[in-house]
Amino acid sequence: MASAIDSNVGKDWDVRRLTGALGAEVRGLDLEKAGPAEADAIRDLMAEHLVLFFPEQHLTPDTHIAFGRLFGKLEAHPNLSLDAERPEFFELRAEGGSGAIADEWHSDLTCEEHPSVMAILHMVKCPPYGGDTMWANMYKAYEGLSAPMKELCEGLTALHDAHAHGKPENVAVHPVVRVHPVTGRKSLFVNEHFTRRIVEMGHRESEALLGFLTKWATQPDFTVRYHWTEGTIAMWDNRCTQHCVLSDFDGERVIQRVTVMGDEPEGVAPPRWAPHLKPFSAASRHDRQLKGYIDARFGND
Ligand SMILES: [Fe+2]
Repeated sequence: MASAIDSNVGKDWDVRRLTGALGAEVRGLDLEKAGPAEADAIRDLMAEHLVLFFPEQHLTPDTHIAFGRLFGKLEAHPNLSLDAERPEFFELRAEGGSGAIADEWHSDLTCEEHPSVMAILHMVKCPPYGGDTMWANMYKAYEGLSAPMKELCEGLTALHDAHAHGKPENVAVHPVVRVHPVTGRKSLFVNEHFTRRIVEMGHRESEALLGFLTKWATQPDFTVRYHWTEGTIAMWDNRCTQHCVLSDFDGERVIQRVTVMGDEPEGVAPPRWAPHLKPFSAASRHDRQLKGYIDARFGND
């Protein structure tokens, strides 16, 4: 594989860091003409900045798909209707106030066993104001925790579901702290949109810890807020970031997106405790959901 280190590709790009936490704007290349060497240089920039913005690109659906394929196999989105001719490509139109935007903090599709690793988004139409997107750095969220909280979190897993998308039966369990397969760094991997229950804790303990962690993870010091212009391509690493759209706009906001297939999140070590289901609370949907998941996965003894 070509390596950015061995070539001059990317050396003349204008890379402007946006905040102390994450994010960079990149100019001086044409993504329609990008090949494996450019993809390698972009991967290096992604590892450093976690989310990249390429203004003034204006990709067509087909060049958008071709660019995405440089980074891996693309996947269909399980929660959205799709273009039959291009199942790996989708367009999302939102009207201000319609509620049809992802205005809760999340990493994409953590309700799946293999959450997507990367999203590549094309901002096609901006509202006249508002509709910015925020990202947060989950390496920083992990690294900022105290030593005892890090140790606790490293021994835990959490149940995620697609309840917010009307599919509560889509359930997956992931480590609360995951290890990035490329950088080897640890990041916090719970989010308010999909994460429902710490598996090894009781319902009320889980509510308290998830409430703390999801709020902690998205504090302003860990974030970047991006104001879009039409034709900008953004790409981000879902394994070490969360994002959230601000629902503060009027008018139409149109995005097009492709998603790179996921890997299985790997924890620091196997969970240190068994799932906690005693006392089982019939009032808790998440207890019932967790028991159903465990019965299906490991058998009901
Ligand atoms: Fe998203």
